[in-house]
Amino acid sequence: MEQYVTLETLMSDSVAKKHLPKAGYAHCISVAESAYELAVERDVCADLATKAALLHDIGHTIWEHQGEWDYESYSEYDIHTIKGAERSHELLTLKGEDLGKAREIALAILFHSDSSQVSAHVDLTPLQRLVADADNMNKEEQGAHHNQEIEFNEALQRVRRLDMLVYRHIKTQQSCVECKFKQECNLSR
Ligand SMILES: [Fe+2]
Ligand SMILES: [Fe+2]
Repeated sequence: MEQYVTLETLMSDSVAKKHLPKAGYAHCISVAESAYELAVERDVCADLATKAALLHDIGHTIWEHQGEWDYESYSEYDIHTIKGAERSHELLTLKGEDLGKAREIALAILFHSDSSQVSAHVDLTPLQRLVADADNMNKEEQGAHHNQEIEFNEALQRVRRLDMLVYRHIKTQQSCVECKFKQECNLSR
């Protein structure tokens, strides 16, 4: 039986601890919370949605010029979706995530923003659209959403709450519209 990977497991890993603070825990958790709400509303897999949302900016870098945040340069040259897709996939598979789910999550991260143009001319799946929407719901001008700070412990509490909500939600579901891996989704824990 496959082990179920939780948001807490992902967030507590050293790779996540190294990279998530660059985008800010406050933003990552808020997007994951919005993704959960949207997943319930749209009948998209809450497991995939919250994992992709939590990790969506794991490829984010601190983009500075002479010690100052250079938003213009960031907007022009950033490739955080590409780095995030690769990094999240590595983290997920390391933690034992189902390979099909890891692929869906990585692709949702790849297409969550049009900053690197990889999503130009791509018809987004409901999961990919949901992660992009959850991100957009939690954006502020000039990237200010990346500067809100919360402590790791607060982030951990909120992620534990989300883990519980996702667990309860998918346990009651017959199947997932988005998730092609409903056996694993419904649940092997
Ligand atoms: Fe992003
Ligand atoms: Fe974001």
